[in-house]
Amino acid sequence: MTTTTPPARSRPLRAGQVVVVEIEKLALLGRGIARYEGMTVFVKDGLPGDRAQICVTKCKPQYAEARLVQLERPSPHRMTPACRHFGACGGCDLQHLDYPAQVAWKQTQLVETLQHLGGLKTLPPITVVPMDDPWHYRNKMEFSFGEEAGRIVAGLHQRGSFQRIVKLEHCWIAPPLASDILQQAELAANASGLPAYDPRRHQGFWRYLVVRVSRATGEALLMLVTNEGPREAVVRAAEQVTRALPTVTSVLWGVSTRVSDVAHPERTEVLIGRDTLEERIGPLALEVRPMNFLQPNLSHAERLYREMQAAAGLQGRETVYDLYCGLGVIALLLAPDAHRVYGVESEPDHVALASSNASRNGLSNATFVCGKVEDLLLRRGLFRLGPPPDLVVVDPPRVGLHPEAIGPLLQAQPPRLFYISCNPASLAHDLKVLLEREPRWRLTRLSLYDFFPQTGHMEVFATLER
Ligand SMILES: C[S@@+](CC[C@H](N)C(=O)[O-])C[C@H]1O[C@@H](n2cnc3c(N)ncnc32)[C@H](O)[C@@H]1O
Repeated sequence: MTTTTPPARSRPLRAGQVVVVEIEKLALLGRGIARYEGMTVFVKDGLPGDRAQICVTKCKPQYAEARLVQLERPSPHRMTPACRHFGACGGCDLQHLDYPAQVAWKQTQLVETLQHLGGLKTLPPITVVPMDDPWHYRNKMEFSFGEEAGRIVAGLHQRGSFQRIVKLEHCWIAPPLASDILQQAELAANASGLPAYDPRRHQGFWRYLVVRVSRATGEALLMLVTNEGPREAVVRAAEQVTRALPTVTSVLWGVSTRVSDVAHPERTEVLIGRDTLEERIGPLALEVRPMNFLQPNLSHAERLYREMQAAAGLQGRETVYDLYCGLGVIALLLAPDAHRVYGVESEPDHVALASSNASRNGLSNATFVCGKVEDLLLRRGLFRLGPPPDLVVVDPPRVGLHPEAIGPLLQAQPPRLFYISCNPASLAHDLKVLLEREPRWRLTRLSLYDFFPQTGHMEVFATLER
């Protein structure tokens, strides 16, 4: 018997080709989706409603990638980006889309993800909460140092690049003080005569600049993260920045010799001030260190937390668990109305600060436990710490719930589960598993909070009830 291979279907596009397309949809990372003779084409910075000449940059068997050459008819939602670094800088990917259309797109993304990945046929009405002012909202920034034409530059990674840093004069999603700190830190790094760290050769000195600005006090804490090297250079830079900007009240030095591109240092030293910054969330006064997790958009997070407190409707009798609790913000906000709250978190430093923040706020009914949720639930019977849970709140990292956490969570049979998620895909996956394994649960509430305007990210608050 002879077999014949069907002739390879010729691709309708090739790299370098210029064609005209209508952009139909928006994909993640601000890429428009067009179809050309049956082939999907991802167009960098293309928007639904654009009719544009595009140039193909990459051609794969299943899809092509392209850049805009000329807009023949722009989308009615297209606008001039506020930031002149937009397109090059990896910080934002939606500034060219008007704000109401950004929010509408996120809602569509959420619905499609829950329906397609989560298999959820019927959804409750979604409450969408946009920001009143979608700029300058981040309380924490992690900038990087790089080099350009023999000078040190400070800014954010170029879109899609781990090596190139885009020098920023002003960042539109950070508070203005963070941009001022960036300029001063860049000047100080250049004055030191030491080079920026080169991630390809793993050589050089200046690596990252972590900035936290307190909404409560207007003060800033910053951490200069370097490779091993002379301490005096960092002390001089810290003095230079604080002299120019008196609201920078604390400066830390972090040393990282890691090959991976993460700002988390192996050791830190306080050079000026303290290692914590004071912050307020609702009635809570909190202390936070540079690398702790705290929602970066605190004013909007406060609105979500308020909705959650109201939805919890606690009467003072309930036992509440806050799993993946970070600094314990949710547990501490719910504690005054609960009988007992338990927070679980894997980072020892978060747990220590959560406990001291509980004392600081006079909350004696909050207990924080250090460990991985899945280990504590599965092997150490976490839910036996007190009476059975009346409410469990989960706020996991982007990957979602650990598969081993799901069984014990279901066995504990909490009447209500609040799920806070920064990733619709893992939320959809987890809801699917939870609802399949516990058919008595219903998805009763879905709220989309736009914590991250100008980017494709969102925060979702979902409630499951029996
Ligand atoms: C999204 S943050 C939670 C934030 C917190 N609920 C708040 O509102 O500020 C997720 C937290 O989960 C912690 N974490 C990650 N994996 C974990 C695990 N397996 N077990 C326990 N905590 C974990 C992280 O350290 C981080 O603090």
